[in-house]
Amino acid sequence: IPRYAVIGHPVAHSLSPRIHAAFGRQLSIALDYSAIDTAAEEFDMTLGAFAASGGVGANVTLPHKQRAARACATLSERARRAGAVNTLTLRGGEWHGDNTDGAGLVRDLTGRHGLDLRARRTLLIGAGGAARGVAPALLDAGIGDLYIVNRTSERADALADALGQPGRVHPRYLADLKQFGEFDLVINATSATRTDGLPDLPMSLVGARTAAVDLSYGEVAIPFLAWARAAGAHDAIGGLGMLVEQAAESFALWHGVRPDTDPVYAHLVEHRA
Ligand code: ATR
Repeated sequence: IPRYAVIGHPVAHSLSPRIHAAFGRQLSIALDYSAIDTAAEEFDMTLGAFAASGGVGANVTLPHKQRAARACATLSERARRAGAVNTLTLRGGEWHGDNTDGAGLVRDLTGRHGLDLRARRTLLIGAGGAARGVAPALLDAGIGDLYIVNRTSERADALADALGQPGRVHPRYLADLKQFGEFDLVINATSATRTDGLPDLPMSLVGARTAAVDLSYGEVAIPFLAWARAAGAHDAIGGLGMLVEQAAESFALWHGVRPDTDPVYAHLVEHRA
């Protein structure tokens, strides 16, 4: 049977193999989906070896999303706009790259969590592969102004430029966050808590109707969500729902049928949260 995988570093704790297996069982589609850990320098080689061993589709997670975009012969419109790929599909011996993260996030926030994103003044913290993946879909979903901050400010500038909506997208300095007032939507797209801990965020970013979202799930998401609750956020939403939704979008691209995500999400919440 054709092989699928999630490629990341680290990747051992990824839930993607369990999610895709559950989708396969639900739809009676036999599949082989594993996790492949590979360092940045070895990404291209690993991808080649995966194809040689029967690999036809892969999800890509941090820190490889931008590198994966460069490894593709063709890109979907949304992957090109993001400059980042989370879904690879082998087509005629070459990799086609797509990005389902943004659609997954929007679906989780508007569907599962019932948020109306329209006109929400939004702060995106981070400008790496995860931030790039979600920014275009958020703009398309009708959010208001989008402010982008990042530890390395040049990357915030580069992402803002790539989004191509200068009247609406504003790169700013992380150090200036205190001056920005409240946001309706605050999204943590950094991997900071994996290493050094959450950057210093003023509580003045959060108001009584603010939704705070961490794109990570599990322990990594806890510090940001705890900060958001302490600051009085209306919603504090982790990335598990987005993970399940982006997986369903990828599954649909590969297998031509979209799974029902609710039972899979409910099962994961019940067995880990
Ligand atoms: P991802 O796909 O998760 O975005 P990435 O491309 O490595 O992976 O990006 C990680 C993000 O987390 C970046 O925005 C990074 O900031 P830099 O561009 O300055 O590296 C951010 N990040 C990582 N560690 C951080 C820290 N300790 N403090 C603040 N931001 C951090």
